[in-house]
Amino acid sequence: MKFAQFWRSKGSFSGILKQVERFSKFSPSPLSMKQFIDFGSTNACEKTSFVFLRQELPVRLANIMKEIDYLPDKLLSTPSVKLLNSWYSRSLMELVDFLEKDPDDKDVLKNFTKTLVNVRNRHNNVVPTMAQGVLEYKDAFGVDPVTNQNVQYFLDRFYMSRISTRMLMNQHTLIFDGSVNPAHPKHIGSIDPSCDVVEVVKDLDRKLCFLFHCCNTNISLKLSPCWKRLTAKNPDQPLHIVYVPSHLYHMLFELFKNAMRATVETHETSPTLPPIKVRISLGSEDLTIKMSDKGGGVPLRKIERLFSYMYSTAPSPGNGGGWVAGFGYGLPISRLYAKYFQGDLQLYSMEGYGTSAVIYLKALSSESVERLPVFNKSALRHYQTSMEADDWCMPSKDPKKLGKNEMTQ
Ligand SMILES: Nc1ncnc2c1ncn2[C@@H]1O[C@H](COP(=O)(O)OP(=O)(O)O)[C@@H](O)[C@H]1O
Ligand SMILES: [Mg+2]
Repeated sequence: MKFAQFWRSKGSFSGILKQVERFSKFSPSPLSMKQFIDFGSTNACEKTSFVFLRQELPVRLANIMKEIDYLPDKLLSTPSVKLLNSWYSRSLMELVDFLEKDPDDKDVLKNFTKTLVNVRNRHNNVVPTMAQGVLEYKDAFGVDPVTNQNVQYFLDRFYMSRISTRMLMNQHTLIFDGSVNPAHPKHIGSIDPSCDVVEVVKDLDRKLCFLFHCCNTNISLKLSPCWKRLTAKNPDQPLHIVYVPSHLYHMLFELFKNAMRATVETHETSPTLPPIKVRISLGSEDLTIKMSDKGGGVPLRKIERLFSYMYSTAPSPGNGGGWVAGFGYGLPISRLYAKYFQGDLQLYSMEGYGTSAVIYLKALSSESVERLPVFNKSALRHYQTSMEADDWCMPSKDPKKLGKNEMTQ
């Protein structure tokens, strides 16, 4: 096993593999919003949360570590991916240490919280580090459709797993650190049981328009989102859902940046800019947020690529486009945040006109349940796909000349 080779070569093999095998035999247990809230309710019990997490976190880490091992060798051997591997292994071992500890011991609980904070900090730069690894691979070996497909499959699962483990660690550390968030006393950890979606959008709009003004002094900006909120009953009724505001903020921030950038670039020479329109609708099943710009749109052929980690347009982090351009992970990661609680994010574009980005969230907290990857045979099959012949004809540049005989047959 490649993972084993790596740790043997480091001289610190020390049972890491054994733990990966042990915990990857279990499937992760997805939590519902209700369960997350119960963990933080008035009779919340740190001990119960501890006992759950000391098993669940290693299970989630081990499941994804199994998948890291199936990445292409050339990607696995990049310094960035080796570094990532070392972070995951260290964190797994630190958490496994708590399995034999006594949950009734206050010091154990205190140390556990400390460990969670350490683990979280250690993994702060996982996304750019992985992106760097993909870049190194791309520079050296280029991109082919099979590798792109494997890396896409893996990274969606890898980043989703990371979103979930951070969510668990955040909840435990925020809920049991003994203090109440003074700005948001009703929040349960990072969850707002009554998240006002309209307020989140308005807040972001204020901040981004201000930033845009500061950064583009040569462009006179008239860019303000237009508002529409829709409810079945009362149009002025606030739209509330049980949600993680920081996740919503992240998605909307990325969509706003993209829409603003497209708008500004398409209308560079005009004195005024067309507004970005936001429409929010709460139905019985979905809460839908649609953001529409007149930023020139994207051809259909390219839409799928916008979500690709390997084909991302930006050559390297921080290159070109200023602060509004990230390293091309804005859309795929935002879509993961939406999918994490069973929602989705889709782009609809009209080339030559503009784009609508739509975020779908579950309206009911009972349906907001974590969506988690699990390592099993079906997952394994995805890494074993080889180049197969396409089952649709490729359009040929020179159509076959049909002779007289063939025509009449
Ligand atoms: N609203 C939009 N209008 C036009 N192009 C867009 C829009 N949103 C995204 N794009 C295109 O998709 C690309 C990828 O977006 P994203 O994932 O946010 O990465 P980044 O913004 O870092 O390039 C952008 O570089 C841009 O070319
Ligand atoms: Mg972006």
